Amino acid sequence: MLELDRVVKHYRSGGEVVRAVDDVTLTVAGGEMVALYGPSGSGKTTLLQLAAALLTPDAGSVRFDGRDVGAFGGDEADDYRRLDVGFVFQEIELWRGVSAQENAALKLVADPVPWKQARKQAARWLERVGLGHKLDEVPEHLSGGERQRVAIATALANEPRLILADEPTGSLDSRRGRDVLELLRAIARERGAAVLLVTHDPQAAEIADRVHTLRDGMLLSEAPEPPLPARRALDAAS
Ligand SMILES: Nc1ncnc2c1ncn2[C@@H]1O[C@H](COP(=O)(O)OP(=O)(O)O)[C@@H](O)[C@H]1O
Ligand SMILES: [Mg+2]
Repeated sequence: MLELDRVVKHYRSGGEVVRAVDDVTLTVAGGEMVALYGPSGSGKTTLLQLAAALLTPDAGSVRFDGRDVGAFGGDEADDYRRLDVGFVFQEIELWRGVSAQENAALKLVADPVPWKQARKQAARWLERVGLGHKLDEVPEHLSGGERQRVAIATALANEPRLILADEPTGSLDSRRGRDVLELLRAIARERGAAVLLVTHDPQAAEIADRVHTLRDGMLLSEAPEPPLPARRALDAAS
């Protein structure tokens, strides 16, 4: 579903060129969850932004369902992000003074989903991330971990087929972190969504279908794992 083929992204800073993403080839199929590990500065956020059409590659291609995401014009890129992509940003952005439920619902009304239905859908996703009792709270009254879960519910509320998550468990304790990772995997399975997340969370290695490591913009390794169909058969048998 998501296919990155020999993708390169440079930044020019001062006189220097930073190869933030350096010849990366990576596919995430529908139903699959792929985790990217990598130290700070290794290109993880840049890679997600390329997949979300927030950046365009300098070389190589980014495709979603066969469409050339890197070649999208402004409107196409907007539609792609609005309809196909759920992005959980590293820096959580919520509307101050607006309840958790309305924060998550606001993403949907642009779709356009009627407000009443948007609120209902938002409530359903907040319940799934364990915040059903905090629908009316404003972000200022939520903990960092709760705000992170609101951001996750917001990203999922439009039922995207591609979920991109930048350190979605960064401010969660390990149990909440595991819940979020398992939720993302469940969504991949249930809806055939493709999930690509970057993380420092060691639990992701067990929960994701595949794990890659990025270093200096290059994709280094893939943990040896049985291919997905075999893995599913094992899951079904256990
Ligand atoms: N807008 C930018 N301008 C210049 N350099 C950037 C910019 N964004 C990121 N970089 C550089 O690109 C590299 C990869 O950054 P990033 O994708 O944010 O990595 P990560 O998310 O793994 O920390 C780093 O060396 C970073 O300093
Ligand atoms: Mg980053």
